[in-house]
Amino acid sequence: MSGHEITLLPGDGIGPEITQATLRVIEAAGVSLRLDEHKAGVSALEAHGEPLPQRVLDSIRTTGVCLKGPLTTPSGVGFRSINVALRQEFDLYANVRPVRTLMPGRYRDVDLVLVRENTEGLYVGVEHYIGVGGDRKAAAESVMIVTRHGSERIVRYAFDYARRQRRRKVTLVHKANILKLTQGLFLEVGREVARQYPEIAFEDRIIDATAMQLVLDPSRFDVLVTENMFGDILSDELAGLVGGLGFAPAANVGGEVAIFEAVHGSAPDIAGHGVANPTALMLSACLMLDHLDERDAARRLRDAVEGVWRDGTARTRDAGGSASTAQFRDAVCERLRS
Ligand code: NAI
Ligand code: MG
Repeated sequence: MSGHEITLLPGDGIGPEITQATLRVIEAAGVSLRLDEHKAGVSALEAHGEPLPQRVLDSIRTTGVCLKGPLTTPSGVGFRSINVALRQEFDLYANVRPVRTLMPGRYRDVDLVLVRENTEGLYVGVEHYIGVGGDRKAAAESVMIVTRHGSERIVRYAFDYARRQRRRKVTLVHKANILKLTQGLFLEVGREVARQYPEIAFEDRIIDATAMQLVLDPSRFDVLVTENMFGDILSDELAGLVGGLGFAPAANVGGEVAIFEAVHGSAPDIAGHGVANPTALMLSACLMLDHLDERDAARRLRDAVEGVWRDGTARTRDAGGSASTAQFRDAVCERLRS
């Protein structure tokens, strides 16, 4: 059989709408996929009584590649985020988020990639209350865990990515001036790894200064690599530089498995109306095509999506236009054919 086998999770809310649109443009780019499609999230909870059925995990383990729509995490009902569960299950240690200007806004030509460590730091969730006298919650404590192994593999990932994508510089973002041990170890290991990539420039910068510099002049950065929490915060800042969440794609990558998804959520407020902006998922699909070594198709699809935004032929509502999801999709297909 021909075609790449992937796991497809259309997801909740606007997920199925933007997934359908994305599958169509992948097909129009000439790539054939064999889809192992599953429900996950609220739709799986309703259909099978559990949000992350074992068969979803089995499928992802078998195919190694998953295209995923957003999943709704109901608050307060005590099921933990499925996104976090997937990250842990497959040890998806690298969260990769390329950001590029599609619609000239405040900045003309932002072209950055953030590589965020996804498994360590403060987000390991080791925390507890400290009681004093009768006050059970007199204080609270969270533990930041940074390992040599975790630091090494994420910085190496960033440099390998830079090499593959012919990027010129890696900036390691940290707070080693204050957190001398945890952030200090991250920086120390980063410097060791950097020496093995002499053709790629390396610098390190403090997180707060980086946040400011990004707003003043994003063009001075290229690839950024950082730990979990700083990466969480910076990645939304980066999305803001290029027009918001509707334009931000992501890859979650581990040794065996890679999951590709938009950064935004299931947008329940507009679900079912056919007006969602599928750009972020389409760009995530480009990352997936690169991963599948369909580089030519990835490049053509990326050019087509960018072209539609540049020419303004189909602007969705979130970007001030009136195009539907289907009209946007058709505009991308049209460009792919021309
Ligand atoms: P959200 O990203 O779904 O929506 C925030 C706002 O942006 C809404 O007004 C929405 O209409 C708009 N928006 C988002 N994506 C859009 C698109 N493609 N086109 C046009 N407008 C778009 O964030 P929110 O409302 O905080 O979360 C909703 C649900 O999604 C929650 O259950 C949350 O847990 C889940 N979520 C899932 C994620 C995932 O699966 N990766 C990531 C973030 C949130
Ligand atoms: Mg976040």
